[in-house]
Amino acid sequence: MERTWWKESVIYQIYPRSFYDSNGDGNGDLAGATAKLDYLKDLGIDIIWLSPIFKSPNHDNGYDISDYRAIMDEFGTMEDFGRLLSEAHARGIKIMLDLVANHTSDEHPWFIESRKSRDNAYRDYYIWHDGKNGGPPNNWESFFGGPTWEYDDKTGQYYMHLFVKQQPDLNWENPDVRHEIYDMMKWWFDKGVDGFRMDTVNMYSKAPGFPDGEPIPGTPYGDKSPHMHNGPRIHEFLKEMNREVLSKYDIVTVGEAPETSVEDAILYTGFDQGELNMVFTFEHMWTDYQNATQWCDLKFDLVKLKNALSSWQTGLHEKGWNSLYWNNHDQPRVVSRFGDDGEYREVSAKMLAACLHMMQGTPYIYQGEELGMTNVAFSGIDDYDDVATVNAYREYTENRGVSHGDMMRYIHQTSRDNARTPMQWDNTENAGFTTGKPWLKVNPNYPVINAKAQVNDPDSVFGFYKKLIRLRKEHPVIVYGDYELLLPDHPAIFAYLRKLGGETLLTVCSFQKECVEFSVPDILPLEKAKLLLSNYDSPDITRTFTLQPYEARVYLFA
Ligand code: GLC
Ligand code: CA
Repeated sequence: MERTWWKESVIYQIYPRSFYDSNGDGNGDLAGATAKLDYLKDLGIDIIWLSPIFKSPNHDNGYDISDYRAIMDEFGTMEDFGRLLSEAHARGIKIMLDLVANHTSDEHPWFIESRKSRDNAYRDYYIWHDGKNGGPPNNWESFFGGPTWEYDDKTGQYYMHLFVKQQPDLNWENPDVRHEIYDMMKWWFDKGVDGFRMDTVNMYSKAPGFPDGEPIPGTPYGDKSPHMHNGPRIHEFLKEMNREVLSKYDIVTVGEAPETSVEDAILYTGFDQGELNMVFTFEHMWTDYQNATQWCDLKFDLVKLKNALSSWQTGLHEKGWNSLYWNNHDQPRVVSRFGDDGEYREVSAKMLAACLHMMQGTPYIYQGEELGMTNVAFSGIDDYDDVATVNAYREYTENRGVSHGDMMRYIHQTSRDNARTPMQWDNTENAGFTTGKPWLKVNPNYPVINAKAQVNDPDSVFGFYKKLIRLRKEHPVIVYGDYELLLPDHPAIFAYLRKLGGETLLTVCSFQKECVEFSVPDILPLEKAKLLLSNYDSPDITRTFTLQPYEARVYLFA
Protein backbone atom coordinates (compact mmCIF):
# COMPACT_ATOMS: atom_id res chain seq x y z
CA MET A 1 0.00 0.00 0.00
CA GLU A 2 1.26 3.45 -0.85
CA ARG A 3 2.39 5.39 2.22
CA THR A 4 1.02 8.94 2.27
CA TRP A 5 0.98 11.72 4.85
CA TRP A 6 -2.78 11.81 5.27
CA LYS A 7 -2.84 8.13 6.17
CA GLU A 8 -0.32 8.83 8.92
CA SER A 9 -2.00 11.95 10.28
CA VAL A 10 -4.32 12.64 13.17
CA ILE A 11 -7.01 15.24 12.54
CA TYR A 12 -8.51 17.54 15.16
CA GLN A 13 -11.88 19.12 14.56
CA ILE A 14 -12.49 22.66 15.75
CA TYR A 15 -16.05 23.91 15.97
CA PRO A 16 -14.96 27.55 15.98
CA ARG A 17 -18.02 29.01 17.70
CA SER A 18 -17.37 26.85 20.76
CA PHE A 19 -13.58 26.66 20.81
CA TYR A 20 -12.16 29.88 22.21
CA ASP A 21 -13.49 33.44 22.27
CA SER A 22 -10.73 36.02 21.84
CA ASN A 23 -12.80 39.19 22.23
CA GLY A 24 -15.44 38.50 24.86
CA ASP A 25 -18.50 38.59 22.60
CA GLY A 26 -19.45 35.07 23.67
CA ASN A 27 -18.63 33.43 20.33
CA GLY A 28 -15.48 31.52 19.63
CA ASP A 29 -13.56 32.92 16.67
CA LEU A 30 -10.53 32.52 14.40
CA ALA A 31 -8.20 34.56 16.59
CA GLY A 32 -9.28 32.27 19.43
CA ALA A 33 -8.28 29.21 17.41
CA THR A 34 -4.90 30.80 16.65
CA ALA A 35 -4.38 31.47 20.35
CA LYS A 36 -4.75 27.75 21.09
CA LEU A 37 -2.41 26.37 18.43
CA ASP A 38 0.29 25.61 20.96
CA TYR A 39 -2.18 23.48 22.89
CA LEU A 40 -2.84 21.48 19.72
CA LYS A 41 0.85 21.25 18.93
CA ASP A 42 1.41 19.84 22.41
CA LEU A 43 -1.36 17.28 21.82
CA GLY A 44 0.50 16.28 18.66
CA ILE A 45 -2.18 16.51 15.97
CA ASP A 46 -1.24 17.06 12.31
CA ILE A 47 -4.30 18.61 10.70
CA ILE A 48 -7.13 20.85 11.88
CA TRP A 49 -10.59 20.51 10.35
CA LEU A 50 -12.38 23.80 10.84
CA SER A 51 -16.17 23.62 10.76
CA PRO A 52 -17.55 26.35 8.43
CA ILE A 53 -16.04 29.80 8.88
CA PHE A 54 -17.77 31.45 5.92
CA LYS A 55 -20.33 34.23 5.84
CA SER A 56 -23.62 32.82 7.04
CA PRO A 57 -26.94 33.87 8.57
CA ASN A 58 -26.42 30.88 10.87
CA HIS A 59 -29.73 29.08 10.64
CA ASP A 60 -27.60 25.94 10.91
CA ASN A 61 -24.48 27.41 12.51
CA GLY A 62 -22.51 28.13 9.39
CA TYR A 63 -23.70 25.13 7.37
CA ASP A 64 -25.82 27.66 5.46
CA ILE A 65 -23.31 29.75 3.53
CA SER A 66 -24.16 33.08 1.92
CA ASP A 67 -20.64 33.86 0.67
CA TYR A 68 -18.02 31.14 0.19
CA ARG A 69 -15.20 33.66 -0.11
CA ALA A 70 -15.82 35.75 2.99
CA ILE A 71 -15.45 35.08 6.72
CA MET A 72 -18.44 35.02 9.06
CA ASP A 73 -18.66 38.32 10.96
CA GLU A 74 -18.49 36.75 14.43
CA PHE A 75 -15.40 34.74 13.50
CA GLY A 76 -13.27 37.69 12.37
CA THR A 77 -11.73 38.74 9.07
CA MET A 78 -9.83 37.24 6.16
CA GLU A 79 -6.67 38.61 7.84
CA ASP A 80 -7.52 36.57 10.94
CA PHE A 81 -7.85 33.53 8.73
CA GLY A 82 -4.52 34.23 7.05
CA ARG A 83 -2.90 34.48 10.45
CA LEU A 84 -4.43 31.22 11.63
CA LEU A 85 -3.22 29.48 8.47
CA SER A 86 0.32 30.81 8.62
CA GLU A 87 0.66 30.24 12.38
CA ALA A 88 -0.61 26.69 11.95
CA HIS A 89 1.77 26.06 9.07
CA ALA A 90 4.64 27.48 11.11
CA ARG A 91 3.92 24.71 13.64
CA GLY A 92 3.67 22.01 11.00
CA ILE A 93 -0.12 21.83 11.31
CA LYS A 94 -2.29 21.74 8.20
CA ILE A 95 -5.76 23.25 7.84
CA MET A 96 -8.75 21.63 6.26
CA LEU A 97 -11.92 23.65 5.58
CA ASP A 98 -15.53 22.51 5.49
CA LEU A 99 -16.98 22.47 1.98
CA VAL A 100 -20.74 22.82 2.21
CA ALA A 101 -21.74 22.47 -1.42
CA ASN A 102 -24.90 20.39 -1.40
CA HIS A 103 -26.77 23.56 -0.48
CA THR A 104 -26.21 27.25 0.18
CA SER A 105 -27.99 29.74 2.40
CA ASP A 106 -31.20 31.23 1.01
CA GLU A 107 -29.35 34.54 1.41
CA HIS A 108 -26.66 33.51 -1.06
CA PRO A 109 -26.77 35.91 -4.09
CA TRP A 110 -27.33 32.91 -6.39
CA PHE A 111 -30.52 32.00 -4.56
CA ILE A 112 -31.68 35.61 -4.29
CA GLU A 113 -31.45 35.75 -8.08
CA SER A 114 -32.82 32.27 -8.61
CA ARG A 115 -36.10 32.94 -6.87
CA LYS A 116 -36.74 36.19 -8.78
CA SER A 117 -38.23 34.67 -11.91
CA ARG A 118 -38.50 31.38 -13.77
CA ASP A 119 -36.20 32.67 -16.50
CA ASN A 120 -33.55 34.20 -14.25
CA ALA A 121 -30.00 33.22 -15.25
CA TYR A 122 -29.56 31.57 -11.82
CA ARG A 123 -32.90 29.73 -11.83
CA ASP A 124 -31.25 26.38 -12.59
CA TYR A 125 -28.63 26.79 -9.88
CA TYR A 126 -31.26 25.31 -7.55
CA ILE A 127 -33.90 22.60 -7.78
CA TRP A 128 -37.28 24.09 -8.64
CA HIS A 129 -40.33 21.96 -9.32
CA ASP A 130 -44.08 22.26 -9.82
CA GLY A 131 -46.29 20.97 -7.03
CA LYS A 132 -48.38 17.81 -7.22
CA ASN A 133 -52.07 17.53 -6.26
CA GLY A 134 -51.99 20.89 -4.53
CA GLY A 135 -48.96 19.95 -2.41
CA PRO A 136 -45.21 19.52 -2.69
CA PRO A 137 -43.67 17.59 -5.62
CA ASN A 138 -43.07 14.49 -3.47
CA ASN A 139 -43.40 13.11 0.05
CA TRP A 140 -39.81 13.47 1.29
CA GLU A 141 -39.31 14.71 4.84
CA SER A 142 -36.42 17.09 5.37
CA PHE A 143 -33.68 16.06 7.78
CA PHE A 144 -34.64 18.64 10.34
CA GLY A 145 -38.41 18.22 10.09
CA GLY A 146 -41.19 19.26 7.71
CA PRO A 147 -41.35 18.71 3.96
CA THR A 148 -38.24 18.85 1.79
CA TRP A 149 -39.94 21.42 -0.44
CA GLU A 150 -40.81 25.05 0.13
CA TYR A 151 -43.38 26.83 -1.96
CA ASP A 152 -42.33 30.21 -3.30
CA ASP A 153 -45.26 32.55 -4.10
CA LYS A 154 -43.26 34.76 -6.38
CA THR A 155 -42.85 32.14 -9.12
CA GLY A 156 -45.42 29.56 -8.08
CA GLN A 157 -42.98 26.66 -7.74
CA TYR A 158 -41.34 24.70 -4.94
CA TYR A 159 -37.60 24.54 -4.24
CA MET A 160 -35.86 21.57 -2.66
CA HIS A 161 -34.14 21.74 0.72
CA LEU A 162 -32.96 18.49 2.27
CA PHE A 163 -32.17 20.42 5.45
CA VAL A 164 -33.96 23.55 6.76
CA LYS A 165 -35.78 25.81 4.34
CA GLN A 166 -33.01 28.39 4.61
CA GLN A 167 -30.69 25.79 3.01
CA PRO A 168 -31.85 25.38 -0.62
CA ASP A 169 -30.15 22.49 -2.45
CA LEU A 170 -27.83 23.37 -5.29
CA ASN A 171 -28.55 21.75 -8.63
CA TRP A 172 -25.44 19.67 -9.35
CA GLU A 173 -26.91 18.61 -12.69
CA ASN A 174 -26.08 22.12 -13.87
CA PRO A 175 -22.42 22.27 -15.02
CA ASP A 176 -22.28 26.00 -14.20
CA VAL A 177 -22.96 25.19 -10.55
CA ARG A 178 -20.24 22.57 -10.48
CA HIS A 179 -17.71 24.92 -12.02
CA GLU A 180 -18.59 27.73 -9.61
CA ILE A 181 -17.84 25.30 -6.77
CA TYR A 182 -14.60 24.09 -8.38
CA ASP A 183 -13.41 27.68 -8.89
CA MET A 184 -14.14 28.48 -5.28
CA MET A 185 -12.23 25.40 -4.11
CA LYS A 186 -9.23 26.40 -6.21
CA TRP A 187 -9.40 29.89 -4.75
CA TRP A 188 -9.00 28.45 -1.23
CA PHE A 189 -6.31 25.98 -2.28
CA ASP A 190 -4.39 28.83 -3.87
CA LYS A 191 -4.50 30.61 -0.49
CA GLY A 192 -2.75 27.58 0.96
CA VAL A 193 -5.46 25.51 2.63
CA ASP A 194 -4.62 21.83 2.84
CA GLY A 195 -7.89 20.06 2.25
CA PHE A 196 -11.64 19.88 2.53
CA ARG A 197 -14.06 17.97 4.64
CA MET A 198 -17.04 17.74 2.31
CA ASP A 199 -20.41 18.14 3.92
CA THR A 200 -23.13 15.66 2.84
CA VAL A 201 -21.06 14.87 -0.24
CA ASN A 202 -23.08 11.81 -1.21
CA MET A 203 -26.27 13.87 -1.59
CA TYR A 204 -25.18 15.94 -4.60
CA SER A 205 -26.88 13.63 -7.11
CA LYS A 206 -30.61 13.00 -6.68
CA ALA A 207 -32.75 10.33 -8.35
CA PRO A 208 -34.19 11.64 -11.63
CA GLY A 209 -37.82 12.66 -11.27
CA PHE A 210 -37.60 12.76 -7.45
CA PRO A 211 -39.81 9.68 -6.85
CA ASP A 212 -41.96 9.40 -3.72
CA GLY A 213 -40.42 7.42 -0.89
CA GLU A 214 -41.93 4.43 0.92
CA PRO A 215 -44.42 5.73 3.51
CA ILE A 216 -42.95 6.14 7.00
CA PRO A 217 -45.47 4.79 9.53
CA GLY A 218 -46.92 7.40 11.88
CA THR A 219 -45.92 10.31 9.65
CA PRO A 220 -47.29 11.95 6.50
CA TYR A 221 -43.90 11.43 4.84
CA GLY A 222 -42.04 8.91 2.72
CA ASP A 223 -38.46 7.73 3.00
CA LYS A 224 -36.26 9.90 0.79
CA SER A 225 -33.11 8.00 1.70
CA PRO A 226 -32.69 5.73 -1.36
CA HIS A 227 -33.48 8.64 -3.68
CA MET A 228 -30.91 11.19 -2.58
CA HIS A 229 -27.92 9.28 -1.19
CA ASN A 230 -25.25 7.96 -3.57
CA GLY A 231 -27.33 9.03 -6.58
CA PRO A 232 -26.75 7.97 -10.19
CA ARG A 233 -24.29 10.73 -11.13
CA ILE A 234 -22.35 11.12 -7.87
CA HIS A 235 -19.22 9.29 -9.01
CA GLU A 236 -19.18 11.18 -12.27
CA PHE A 237 -19.34 14.49 -10.34
CA LEU A 238 -16.59 13.53 -7.92
CA LYS A 239 -14.32 12.24 -10.66
CA GLU A 240 -14.80 15.52 -12.47
CA MET A 241 -14.04 17.48 -9.28
CA ASN A 242 -10.95 15.37 -8.75
CA ARG A 243 -9.75 15.82 -12.32
CA GLU A 244 -10.34 19.55 -12.38
CA VAL A 245 -9.35 20.49 -8.84
CA LEU A 246 -8.24 17.92 -6.27
CA SER A 247 -5.63 16.14 -8.37
CA LYS A 248 -3.81 19.43 -8.94
CA TYR A 249 -2.92 19.88 -5.26
CA ASP A 250 -1.28 17.86 -2.49
CA ILE A 251 -4.27 17.95 -0.17
CA VAL A 252 -6.54 15.74 1.94
CA THR A 253 -10.25 15.11 1.43
CA VAL A 254 -12.93 13.41 3.47
CA GLY A 255 -16.57 13.23 2.50
CA GLU A 256 -19.47 12.96 4.88
CA ALA A 257 -21.43 9.98 3.55
CA PRO A 258 -24.36 8.62 5.53
CA GLU A 259 -26.21 5.55 4.16
CA THR A 260 -23.05 4.35 2.44
CA SER A 261 -22.10 0.69 2.28
CA VAL A 262 -18.56 -0.66 2.26
CA GLU A 263 -18.95 -1.30 -1.49
CA ASP A 264 -19.98 2.33 -2.05
CA ALA A 265 -17.09 3.48 0.11
CA ILE A 266 -14.63 1.63 -2.08
CA LEU A 267 -15.99 3.58 -5.04
CA TYR A 268 -15.53 6.88 -3.19
CA THR A 269 -12.15 6.20 -1.63
CA GLY A 270 -10.61 3.47 -3.77
CA PHE A 271 -6.93 4.16 -4.40
CA ASP A 272 -7.52 3.81 -8.14
CA GLN A 273 -10.86 5.64 -8.26
CA GLY A 274 -9.70 9.26 -8.38
CA GLU A 275 -12.40 10.61 -6.07
CA LEU A 276 -11.82 11.19 -2.34
CA ASN A 277 -9.28 10.06 0.24
CA MET A 278 -11.85 8.86 2.77
CA VAL A 279 -15.49 9.11 3.81
CA PHE A 280 -17.25 9.27 7.15
CA THR A 281 -19.45 6.23 7.61
CA PHE A 282 -22.42 6.33 9.98
CA GLU A 283 -23.09 2.65 10.62
CA HIS A 284 -21.41 2.66 14.00
CA MET A 285 -23.21 5.88 14.93
CA TRP A 286 -26.59 4.24 14.35
CA THR A 287 -26.12 1.33 16.75
CA ASP A 288 -28.25 3.15 19.33
CA TYR A 289 -30.96 4.37 16.96
CA GLN A 290 -34.50 3.04 17.09
CA ASN A 291 -36.71 2.98 13.98
CA ALA A 292 -34.05 4.96 12.14
CA THR A 293 -34.21 7.88 14.55
CA GLN A 294 -31.87 9.25 17.18
CA TRP A 295 -34.81 10.49 19.29
CA CYS A 296 -35.00 7.55 21.67
CA ASP A 297 -33.13 6.31 24.69
CA LEU A 298 -31.87 2.99 23.38
CA LYS A 299 -28.54 1.80 24.77
CA PHE A 300 -26.03 0.84 22.08
CA ASP A 301 -25.28 -2.78 21.33
CA LEU A 302 -21.56 -3.62 21.43
CA VAL A 303 -21.84 -6.56 19.06
CA LYS A 304 -23.46 -4.33 16.45
CA LEU A 305 -20.88 -1.63 17.05
CA LYS A 306 -17.99 -4.06 16.59
CA ASN A 307 -19.47 -5.56 13.47
CA ALA A 308 -20.13 -2.17 11.92
CA LEU A 309 -16.58 -0.95 12.49
CA SER A 310 -14.95 -4.26 11.63
CA SER A 311 -16.71 -4.69 8.30
CA TRP A 312 -15.24 -1.34 7.24
CA GLN A 313 -11.80 -2.29 8.57
CA THR A 314 -11.62 -5.49 6.56
CA GLY A 315 -13.69 -4.29 3.60
CA LEU A 316 -11.54 -1.27 2.83
CA HIS A 317 -8.18 -2.86 3.60
CA GLU A 318 -5.80 -2.34 0.69
CA LYS A 319 -8.63 -0.89 -1.41
CA GLY A 320 -9.63 2.40 0.15
CA TRP A 321 -9.06 4.31 3.36
CA ASN A 322 -11.07 4.67 6.58
CA SER A 323 -11.78 7.70 8.71
CA LEU A 324 -12.00 6.85 12.40
CA TYR A 325 -14.30 8.87 14.61
CA TRP A 326 -16.45 8.68 17.72
CA ASN A 327 -17.37 12.33 17.87
CA ASN A 328 -18.05 15.43 15.86
CA HIS A 329 -20.28 18.50 16.09
CA ASP A 330 -23.34 16.38 15.17
CA GLN A 331 -22.89 13.56 17.69
CA PRO A 332 -23.30 13.28 21.45
CA ARG A 333 -20.13 12.86 23.50
CA VAL A 334 -18.68 9.38 23.21
CA VAL A 335 -17.81 8.91 26.88
CA SER A 336 -21.50 9.42 27.73
CA ARG A 337 -22.63 7.29 24.81
CA PHE A 338 -20.39 4.21 24.73
CA GLY A 339 -18.52 4.64 28.01
CA ASP A 340 -19.43 5.74 31.55
CA ASP A 341 -19.48 9.46 32.28
CA GLY A 342 -19.79 8.89 36.03
CA GLU A 343 -17.39 6.91 38.20
CA TYR A 344 -15.41 5.51 35.25
CA ARG A 345 -15.27 8.64 33.11
CA GLU A 346 -11.50 8.81 32.83
CA VAL A 347 -10.79 5.13 32.29
CA SER A 348 -13.66 4.71 29.86
CA ALA A 349 -12.68 7.82 27.88
CA LYS A 350 -9.18 6.36 27.56
CA MET A 351 -10.47 2.92 26.66
CA LEU A 352 -12.63 4.36 23.88
CA ALA A 353 -9.70 6.35 22.58
CA ALA A 354 -7.46 3.30 22.43
CA CYS A 355 -10.18 1.20 20.85
CA LEU A 356 -10.55 3.65 17.96
CA HIS A 357 -6.99 4.87 17.47
CA MET A 358 -5.48 1.41 17.12
CA MET A 359 -7.64 0.70 14.06
CA GLN A 360 -6.71 1.32 10.46
CA GLY A 361 -7.64 4.74 9.13
CA THR A 362 -7.11 8.40 9.90
CA PRO A 363 -8.33 9.23 13.42
CA TYR A 364 -10.39 12.35 14.12
CA ILE A 365 -10.50 13.97 17.55
CA TYR A 366 -13.34 16.39 18.20
CA GLN A 367 -12.54 19.31 20.50
CA GLY A 368 -12.88 18.32 24.14
CA GLU A 369 -12.84 14.59 23.40
CA GLU A 370 -9.18 14.64 24.43
CA LEU A 371 -10.34 15.85 27.87
CA GLY A 372 -13.13 13.32 28.25
CA MET A 373 -15.83 16.01 27.97
CA THR A 374 -19.34 14.66 28.54
CA ASN A 375 -22.92 15.23 27.45
CA VAL A 376 -24.87 18.02 29.10
CA ALA A 377 -28.45 18.01 30.43
CA PHE A 378 -30.05 21.43 30.26
CA SER A 379 -33.40 21.37 32.03
CA GLY A 380 -35.49 23.30 29.49
CA ILE A 381 -35.71 23.29 25.72
CA ASP A 382 -34.99 27.04 25.74
CA ASP A 383 -31.37 26.38 26.66
CA TYR A 384 -30.90 24.47 23.40
CA ASP A 385 -29.75 26.21 20.23
CA ASP A 386 -29.41 23.45 17.62
CA VAL A 387 -32.10 23.74 14.95
CA ALA A 388 -32.38 19.95 14.64
CA THR A 389 -33.01 19.60 18.37
CA VAL A 390 -35.45 22.48 18.64
CA ASN A 391 -37.44 21.33 15.59
CA ALA A 392 -37.53 17.72 16.76
CA TYR A 393 -38.76 18.81 20.19
CA ARG A 394 -41.66 20.63 18.59
CA GLU A 395 -42.48 17.84 16.12
CA TYR A 396 -42.32 15.00 18.66
CA THR A 397 -44.14 16.73 21.50
CA GLU A 398 -46.81 18.36 19.30
CA ASN A 399 -47.40 15.79 16.56
CA ARG A 400 -46.00 12.43 17.63
CA GLY A 401 -47.38 12.03 21.14
CA VAL A 402 -44.05 12.09 22.99
CA SER A 403 -44.19 13.71 26.45
CA HIS A 404 -41.99 16.65 27.40
CA GLY A 405 -40.15 14.50 29.95
CA ASP A 406 -39.39 11.70 27.50
CA MET A 407 -38.30 14.10 24.79
CA MET A 408 -35.93 15.91 27.16
CA ARG A 409 -34.39 12.55 28.05
CA TYR A 410 -33.83 11.79 24.39
CA ILE A 411 -32.32 15.23 23.89
CA HIS A 412 -29.98 14.78 26.84
CA GLN A 413 -28.79 11.54 25.32
CA THR A 414 -28.52 12.44 21.64
CA SER A 415 -28.73 16.20 20.90
CA ARG A 416 -26.01 17.78 18.79
CA ASP A 417 -25.66 20.48 21.46
CA ASN A 418 -23.96 17.86 23.65
CA ALA A 419 -20.95 18.38 21.42
CA ARG A 420 -21.36 22.12 21.04
CA THR A 421 -21.12 23.38 24.61
CA PRO A 422 -18.02 25.56 24.95
CA MET A 423 -14.60 23.99 25.21
CA GLN A 424 -13.55 23.66 28.85
CA TRP A 425 -10.19 25.39 29.21
CA ASP A 426 -9.93 25.94 32.95
CA ASN A 427 -11.94 26.23 36.15
CA THR A 428 -12.64 29.95 35.97
CA GLU A 429 -16.05 31.35 35.04
CA ASN A 430 -17.45 29.96 31.77
CA ALA A 431 -14.65 27.40 31.71
CA GLY A 432 -12.25 30.10 30.52
CA PHE A 433 -13.95 30.00 27.13
CA THR A 434 -15.12 33.61 27.16
CA THR A 435 -15.10 36.65 29.40
CA GLY A 436 -18.59 37.47 28.11
CA LYS A 437 -21.82 35.51 27.97
CA PRO A 438 -21.27 32.27 26.04
CA TRP A 439 -23.56 31.73 23.05
CA LEU A 440 -24.46 28.31 24.49
CA LYS A 441 -24.23 27.51 28.21
CA VAL A 442 -21.12 25.74 29.40
CA ASN A 443 -21.37 22.26 30.84
CA PRO A 444 -21.50 22.74 34.65
CA ASN A 445 -18.85 20.05 35.13
CA TYR A 446 -16.05 22.35 33.91
CA PRO A 447 -14.48 22.86 37.37
CA VAL A 448 -13.54 19.16 37.24
CA ILE A 449 -13.13 18.53 33.52
CA ASN A 450 -10.89 21.12 31.89
CA ALA A 451 -7.67 21.41 29.92
CA LYS A 452 -5.69 23.19 32.60
CA ALA A 453 -6.15 20.29 35.00
CA GLN A 454 -4.88 17.80 32.42
CA VAL A 455 -2.19 19.22 30.15
CA ASN A 456 0.65 18.66 32.58
CA ASP A 457 -0.58 15.31 33.86
CA PRO A 458 0.65 12.34 31.84
CA ASP A 459 -2.05 10.16 33.45
CA SER A 460 -4.89 12.40 32.31
CA VAL A 461 -7.17 11.68 29.36
CA PHE A 462 -5.23 14.38 27.50
CA GLY A 463 -1.95 12.63 28.34
CA PHE A 464 -3.41 9.38 27.05
CA TYR A 465 -4.38 10.95 23.70
CA LYS A 466 -0.86 12.34 23.42
CA LYS A 467 0.51 8.84 23.83
CA LEU A 468 -1.88 7.41 21.24
CA ILE A 469 -0.81 10.00 18.70
CA ARG A 470 2.85 9.35 19.43
CA LEU A 471 2.45 5.58 19.11
CA ARG A 472 0.88 6.00 15.67
CA LYS A 473 4.01 7.85 14.56
CA GLU A 474 6.31 5.20 16.01
CA HIS A 475 4.64 2.00 14.81
CA PRO A 476 3.71 1.57 11.15
CA VAL A 477 1.62 -1.47 12.11
CA ILE A 478 -0.91 0.95 13.62
CA VAL A 479 -1.27 2.77 10.32
CA TYR A 480 -0.77 0.04 7.75
CA GLY A 481 -1.36 -3.31 9.45
CA ASP A 482 -4.29 -5.52 8.49
CA TYR A 483 -7.16 -6.09 10.92
CA GLU A 484 -8.75 -9.12 12.50
CA LEU A 485 -11.61 -8.95 14.98
CA LEU A 486 -11.44 -11.39 17.90
CA LEU A 487 -14.50 -12.63 19.81
CA PRO A 488 -17.04 -11.09 17.40
CA ASP A 489 -20.00 -12.16 19.55
CA HIS A 490 -18.63 -11.26 22.96
CA PRO A 491 -21.06 -8.76 24.52
CA ALA A 492 -18.49 -6.81 26.55
CA ILE A 493 -15.03 -7.14 24.99
CA PHE A 494 -13.85 -5.42 21.83
CA ALA A 495 -10.52 -7.02 20.87
CA TYR A 496 -8.64 -7.12 17.60
CA LEU A 497 -5.29 -7.85 16.02
CA ARG A 498 -3.31 -5.76 13.57
CA LYS A 499 -0.46 -7.34 11.62
CA LEU A 500 2.31 -5.95 9.50
CA GLY A 501 5.48 -7.79 8.51
CA GLY A 502 6.48 -9.84 11.54
CA GLU A 503 4.65 -7.64 14.04
CA THR A 504 1.29 -8.17 15.69
CA LEU A 505 -0.57 -5.60 17.71
CA LEU A 506 -3.23 -6.77 20.16
CA THR A 507 -5.84 -4.31 21.41
CA VAL A 508 -8.22 -5.46 24.14
CA CYS A 509 -10.99 -3.22 25.49
CA SER A 510 -13.69 -3.87 28.04
CA PHE A 511 -16.92 -1.97 27.58
CA GLN A 512 -18.37 -2.76 31.00
CA LYS A 513 -17.87 -1.97 34.67
CA GLU A 514 -17.98 -5.62 35.76
CA CYS A 515 -14.62 -7.40 35.57
CA VAL A 516 -14.31 -9.83 32.69
CA GLU A 517 -11.75 -12.45 31.62
CA PHE A 518 -9.86 -12.39 28.38
CA SER A 519 -7.59 -15.08 26.90
CA VAL A 520 -4.73 -14.12 24.63
CA PRO A 521 -4.93 -16.17 21.40
CA ASP A 522 -2.60 -19.20 21.56
CA ILE A 523 -0.66 -18.17 18.48
CA LEU A 524 0.76 -15.13 20.30
CA PRO A 525 3.91 -15.90 22.35
CA LEU A 526 3.48 -14.23 25.75
CA GLU A 527 7.22 -13.83 26.27
CA LYS A 528 7.33 -11.50 23.28
CA ALA A 529 4.52 -9.24 24.50
CA LYS A 530 5.41 -5.62 25.08
CA LEU A 531 2.79 -3.43 26.73
CA LEU A 532 2.44 -0.26 24.66
CA LEU A 533 -0.49 1.27 26.43
CA SER A 534 -2.92 0.73 29.28
CA ASN A 535 -5.41 2.77 31.28
CA TYR A 536 -4.57 0.99 34.57
CA ASP A 537 -1.25 0.73 36.41
CA SER A 538 1.22 -1.68 34.76
CA PRO A 539 -0.87 -4.84 34.47
CA ASP A 540 0.82 -8.26 34.05
CA ILE A 541 0.18 -10.42 31.05
CA THR A 542 -0.85 -14.04 31.52
CA ARG A 543 -2.55 -16.29 28.96
CA THR A 544 -5.87 -15.48 30.61
CA PHE A 545 -6.25 -12.25 32.54
CA THR A 546 -9.01 -10.23 34.14
CA LEU A 547 -9.97 -6.90 32.67
CA GLN A 548 -10.87 -4.24 35.21
CA PRO A 549 -13.84 -1.90 34.56
CA TYR A 550 -13.42 -0.33 31.12
CA GLU A 551 -9.84 -1.53 30.94
CA ALA A 552 -7.89 -1.20 27.70
CA ARG A 553 -4.52 -2.76 26.89
CA VAL A 554 -2.42 -2.63 23.78
CA TYR A 555 0.41 -5.15 23.32
CA LEU A 556 2.98 -5.40 20.58
CA PHE A 557 4.32 -8.86 19.70
CA ALA A 558 7.49 -8.41 17.71
C1 GLC B 1 -23.85 17.92 7.86
C2 GLC B 1 -23.25 18.73 8.97
C3 GLC B 1 -24.36 19.20 9.86
C4 GLC B 1 -25.29 20.05 9.05
C5 GLC B 1 -25.78 19.34 7.80
C6 GLC B 1 -26.36 20.29 6.82
O1 GLC B 1 -24.47 16.78 8.34
O2 GLC B 1 -22.28 18.01 9.64
O3 GLC B 1 -23.88 19.90 10.97
O4 GLC B 1 -26.39 20.42 9.82
O5 GLC B 1 -24.74 18.68 7.13
O6 GLC B 1 -25.36 21.10 6.25
CA1 CA C 1 -15.49 36.21 19.69
